[in-house]
Amino acid sequence: MTVQLRGRAEAITIQWIPKYTLLERVGHWLHTASFVPLAITGMVLYFPFLQPLAQGAAGEFFRLVHRAAAVIFGVLPVIYFIFQPRRFIMNIREFLPSKEDIGWLRGAPAYYLFGRHEAMPPQGRFNAGEKLNGLVMIIAWVIFGITGLLMWFGKGIASPELFRWAVLLHDLAMIASVCMFLVHLYLAVAHPLMWAALVSMRFGVTSAEYAAEHHAKWYYGPKRAMEIYEARKREAARSGH
Ligand code: HEM
Repeated sequence: MTVQLRGRAEAITIQWIPKYTLLERVGHWLHTASFVPLAITGMVLYFPFLQPLAQGAAGEFFRLVHRAAAVIFGVLPVIYFIFQPRRFIMNIREFLPSKEDIGWLRGAPAYYLFGRHEAMPPQGRFNAGEKLNGLVMIIAWVIFGITGLLMWFGKGIASPELFRWAVLLHDLAMIASVCMFLVHLYLAVAHPLMWAALVSMRFGVTSAEYAAEHHAKWYYGPKRAMEIYEARKREAARSGH
């Protein structure tokens, strides 16, 4: 794609490369749209100061919304697995930690606060922060599903002890996933450097230039990405930075 920016004589060419399928993008937004009401209605049931809202007709309403949104939240990844099993497994693999993640997380404050990404170790299709978000959400999804179904259908069947454990784990999953969600939301919507990630989740593509800079292991392959990274480090050491 070639674009002509106002005030610049030469046109710039952007090469787009595919990152997410249509199902992944629609699934991502529907998951978000079900997570938000789940978190809100869950908090009504969780926080003691919101207890008045959890009683009577209002309580019934919030419980109904929670269950309806839970069905969407629970079923979406299953639909994804049924229709795109290879992509599903590929993405889970890409969320797994790798050696470079520690170095990336160490450099993350300078990266996000001051835009310094030159010294960051090369990343795959997801960077270490995105992986952390993905893993927390996957683990939380499993915990929500098991404990939620137990709370939903297990009354009178499961022992009170098991029921208490289910509520506790469900609450902990909420705390972890809501914290992660807030960081994710801020980076995606408000952080000036992260606009490209939002573009790829809207349109399914990312620019080759952005991928080469921020996801070098994916763009160049691990071997070439490490060579470029090592060469950059040597260059920086030589010039005294
Ligand atoms: C598969 C997904 C989920 C299922 C099946 C599910 C199901 C349930 C059920 C049946 C209850 C009990 C409601 C009642 O008192 O009648 C509950 C409570 C709750 N849910 Fe979920 N839920 C799911 C996802 C979520 C998510 C994503 C969050 C928050 C981000 C959440 C937060 C809560 C909280 C905080 C409570 C109150 C627990 C307590 O009493 O301390 N749930 N959920």
